[in-house]
Amino acid sequence: MYRMLILCGSLRAASSSAALTRRLIERLPGTIEPQRFDIARLPHYNADLKDDPAVVELIAAIGAADGVLFVTPEYNYSVPGVLKNAIDWASRPAYQSVFKVKPCFVISVSGGALGGVRAQAHLKYILNGMLATVFPWQEIVVTHGNAKVTDGVFTDEAVLEFALAGITAFAQWKPQG
Ligand SMILES: Cc1cc2nc3c(=O)[nH]c(=O)nc-3n(C[C@H](O)[C@H](O)[C@H](O)COP(=O)(O)O)c2cc1C
Repeated sequence: MYRMLILCGSLRAASSSAALTRRLIERLPGTIEPQRFDIARLPHYNADLKDDPAVVELIAAIGAADGVLFVTPEYNYSVPGVLKNAIDWASRPAYQSVFKVKPCFVISVSGGALGGVRAQAHLKYILNGMLATVFPWQEIVVTHGNAKVTDGVFTDEAVLEFALAGITAFAQWKPQG
């Protein structure tokens, strides 16, 4: 089984990113074991705060995962602060953190026409900075995310199939080195 940790970058109940995440989990191939971690549980980053249980759990979950999937909206042309906060917690010690050589894949979502492509680029830059191994694949950018959710269910079948193809390829990927 491929253990895939899934981090969603939106905390709101009616989130289109969360709706997409839920639908993807329902549709994952049986060879992928999804694990969620709710980043809302994390305190604000503070290097003085030691051994916070949620932080310890997040770092352990990243460490144990075969790969990490991010499903995130774009806030002000970048990654939401809550997601950056989670990443910052798991990023120490620098260049030696659980993110080092960790396979990562990014799906971005927005309410608008660009699908969070700028947040996606920023997130990949951040991941590269931590020496994570970012899956090189077609970019999955989900445009008009809110219009694709009905009663909390993400409904765009073409997007789901495209995203699932990417996730399946990600889980089969054997990075070099
Ligand atoms: C603080 C904030 C900043 C936003 N900035 C952007 C942005 O830069 N680009 C964009 O496409 N949408 C932006 N949006 C709109 C989001 O794409 C939209 O609210 C989306 O539904 C958020 O994702 P969610 O549905 O998963 O919560 C922003 C929304 C908020 C609340």
